[in-house]
Amino acid sequence: MTIFHSLSDFVTFNLFLETMSRLDGKRGDVPVSFPLAIPYDRFTERHGNRMKKWITALVLMGIFLGMETGSFSHAQQRLSREEALRRAREIATGLGDDIRSMLNREIERGGLSSAIRVCSEQAQEKTDEFSARAGHYAKRVSLKIRNPKNTPDADERRKLETFAILKQQNRLEQEYADVVTDSAGEYLHYMKPLIVVDLCTRCHGAREAISPEVTSVLAERYPHDQATGFAVGDIRGAISVKIRLSPS
Ligand code: HEC
Repeated sequence: MTIFHSLSDFVTFNLFLETMSRLDGKRGDVPVSFPLAIPYDRFTERHGNRMKKWITALVLMGIFLGMETGSFSHAQQRLSREEALRRAREIATGLGDDIRSMLNREIERGGLSSAIRVCSEQAQEKTDEFSARAGHYAKRVSLKIRNPKNTPDADERRKLETFAILKQQNRLEQEYADVVTDSAGEYLHYMKPLIVVDLCTRCHGAREAISPEVTSVLAERYPHDQATGFAVGDIRGAISVKIRLSPS
């Protein structure tokens, strides 16, 4: 039974929970409890250590078989998380690639000033289209936004702030996911940090380094733009995807 695609996914997921819970001052996951622990100890005191070993082996075998056949509801829930994680990855990668290739195509065709016009007209459209086609929430968010439509919600903001801390500590991973509960049930929340590369600085770099054409489009279309001053390697924002899991 694979809960995550690889060990690194699992580690990433747990690192996220661990960081979140440390920031929150509470556990991010449900602790496993063993209500049988006390009677079991009393029993084995009477029957010695050999019995204890046998019982432990049987219990472990039972847990293993239960998980393999999916008869534990916990195991079933995790399987659906795996499917959700796979879809979230696909959506985030697709959306990122789509916007990046649109940028590159426009820069080649008409230079930066044309690219920024097209980007400002099409980035939202593309994101909405992507989200509607996939049937799931998909958005680009940032702590320093250019378009107010990309404002993060409270949970996304908290996670972006965590990414900034992890980046400072050189511990930022390529993707994060956790399960969030709301009134409609549970959803998998996937976030993929977007890191600034050289190309991004033409429109998101230091103000004085941005070309006059780009500056004038920015002034005209985004009078409250906060998305400048970034350097290569900074976190520019993230792609955020939410996939509903079957309600509990
Ligand atoms: C040609 C100019 C241009 C380039 C190059 C560019 N961007 Fe942008 N970026 C924009 C514009 C314009 C917007 C606002 C689009 C909108 O309306 O959503 C934007 C918005 C964003 C947003 C959404 C959050 C916000 O601030 O509104 C993210 C995230 C982002 N860009 C990341 C990047 C990354 C990463 C790169 C480099 C791979 C990059 N951009 C390169 C022009 C550019």
